[in-house]
Amino acid sequence: MSRWAKISVVGAGAIGGSLAQRLAEADIADELDIIDIVEGLPQGKALDIEESAPVLGFSTHVRGSTQLEDLAGSNLVVLTAGFARKPGMSRSDLLGKNAGIIRAHAEAIKRFAPKAIVLVVTNPVDVMAYLVKQVTGFPRERILAESGTLDSSRFRLFVAKELGVAPRDVVGFVMGTHGDTMVPIISHCSVNGVPLTHLLPQEKIQAIVQRTKKGGGEIVDLLKSGSAYYAPSAAQLEMILSLARNERRLITASVSLEGEYGHSGIFLSVPVILSNDGLAKIVETALSSDEQKLLADSARAVKEDINLLATLPQ
Ligand code: 2OP
Repeated sequence: MSRWAKISVVGAGAIGGSLAQRLAEADIADELDIIDIVEGLPQGKALDIEESAPVLGFSTHVRGSTQLEDLAGSNLVVLTAGFARKPGMSRSDLLGKNAGIIRAHAEAIKRFAPKAIVLVVTNPVDVMAYLVKQVTGFPRERILAESGTLDSSRFRLFVAKELGVAPRDVVGFVMGTHGDTMVPIISHCSVNGVPLTHLLPQEKIQAIVQRTKKGGGEIVDLLKSGSAYYAPSAAQLEMILSLARNERRLITASVSLEGEYGHSGIFLSVPVILSNDGLAKIVETALSSDEQKLLADSARAVKEDINLLATLPQ
């Protein structure tokens, strides 16, 4: 199994901390750096995680830092820094607050880790990934955003619960943006090959679609003081394992489209293959005409946020 020299997780909040724990336990890199501006927070989380190494048996060395130059030597930088939603907020409401943070971090990645793959997690994630691409100028193969994997996991769980089957037997994915216009793809959803449309009536399927679209908000409303982190960090790990171990998993991720599915110049979640170098391939598959229309609505929503981004002071 191949092993990376270093992974950096920027942002030691709930998602960054949860992901760092999962990454250390996966033992896929010699070094894992947690970087945050709050003195003590990344160091404390890093030490706490590393103190589990004797019990759990991983050998990844976990370090905390407040210095962006510590990004140097990273094979992968995961950007989780920024504000999370509070009840009543959409992910797009975070745009103004998080754009400056992401711009500054993208500049640091370009300077200190010019060869790294970047995984963007900060919301609104498809727009933040666009910003990282603008600032770094990295090829699209090395800029990925998490959302499709998370939304697909929620979708698959809700299908499994409705049917009373094992969650891992539900095969399905969500495309589009990580927001209210995301598109759970019913035409390709099955339980190990048995089509969902043969197993559930339309109204039950539509209820699952609606719950999936509001999946992040459902957690925000329950937690009241922040957003989800266990399922998000698990989804990020799925992507990162495919990258680090060169597994070539076919999963969904948000990537910069250049004509695929009829869209260009924006990040949207689509089925992809992820390998050691990042995005190995975008997989184009047939969608129903309804799904194509919904995907176009999703693309429009991302473009509106990109237009908003251009109006913000730099
Ligand atoms: C979510 O959907 C954090 O956006 C993330 O839970």
